[in-house]
Amino acid sequence: MAGRKYGLDLGTMNIRIFQGGHGLVVYEKNMIAIQRKKEVAAIGNDAFEMYERTPASIVISNPVRDGVIADINNMNKVAEALLKKCGCTTGFMRNNSFYLAVPSDVTEVEKRAYFDLIAHSAYNTHNIFVVEKPLAAALGENVDVKSKKGMMIVDMGAGTTEITVITMGGIVVSKLLKMGGNTINASICQLVKERHHLVIGDKTAEYLKLELGHAIPGQGRGKTVFGRDVITGLPSKAEVSDHLVFDAMKNYLFQVVRTIRNIMETIPPELSGDIIENGIYFTGGTTLIPELDRLFNASLRVKVVFAPKPLESTVRGLGVIMDHASDYKDLTFSLRDAAFE
Ligand SMILES: Nc1ncnc2c1ncn2[C@@H]1O[C@H](COP(=O)(O)OP(=O)(O)OP(=O)(O)O)[C@@H](O)[C@H]1O
Ligand SMILES: [Mg+2]
Repeated sequence: MAGRKYGLDLGTMNIRIFQGGHGLVVYEKNMIAIQRKKEVAAIGNDAFEMYERTPASIVISNPVRDGVIADINNMNKVAEALLKKCGCTTGFMRNNSFYLAVPSDVTEVEKRAYFDLIAHSAYNTHNIFVVEKPLAAALGENVDVKSKKGMMIVDMGAGTTEITVITMGGIVVSKLLKMGGNTINASICQLVKERHHLVIGDKTAEYLKLELGHAIPGQGRGKTVFGRDVITGLPSKAEVSDHLVFDAMKNYLFQVVRTIRNIMETIPPELSGDIIENGIYFTGGTTLIPELDRLFNASLRVKVVFAPKPLESTVRGLGVIMDHASDYKDLTFSLRDAAFE
């Protein structure tokens, strides 16, 4: 049987798998629910459904934290279950190839965890390639990463924001901020507690962000949410305004703008000139905040290009690399070769 190719983007919040010849076959929450410390109660979207609704005997967690695999045992369990869903079975023929997107600004030990994830399980593994996430994300947006012109891509995810300058298929500079959509949610929880004396869960904060999040303040909208009163400990509710949600987002957005500016100031003028000419590419789920393009355009004074499907750019870029393996050979790094050197 011919070998199969799988591309995996293991995000802090979402896991996506692209299968050669099939397209995007898995798109689920990167979560696991463990019962009584060892039994798997649920994986992926099913675990997310249970999140913040379970008894103390069930613990729900994300195996990827701040963009890197933090809990290899649970990551193994999630990957195994989801790869099984798309027909990647174990056996003797070693003919499957795996393409894993990894953040570029992480340690070798952190990168190694991606190799261990696939190598230590029997997925008929023929080879494992790692691709730096920003390169995959750019390819997923049809950007010619091999061009001699410099380009900048900003991936605003759940746990990380990665700002990268690319030229001729290589990364010139990459800065990984351990901040993203989760930072906004935590800040919403904090402000609701301070201003309304109400303790809300992460899911409620996400709801407020999706309903009221807007990069331009002053829409004057509000939503009623339920939580626990800080003083009495009893269930209570409050009307939360979009001003509060904007306040919860602004520090993070300011930090992203500041980091982009710093990078633009430190790279050679030829590259910054190219970036000004081509525009800055934005992707990742957090770029779905309405009017963010207007805010960035005004504060950076550079054209901004927003991905139409920002949650899928990276995994679709892996698909491009898998389908044109010989064209993009120099963008992939085989960890198997490195391991057996
Ligand atoms: N409409 C929206 N408005 C604002 N934020 C959104 C919207 N839709 C999704 N998000 C946010 O996008 C984030 C998920 O994006 P993405 O899937 O790119 O992250 P990830 O790949 O899991 O994380 P990372 O790349 O940081 O490891 C979540 O924080 C989610 O709240
Ligand atoms: Mg991501």
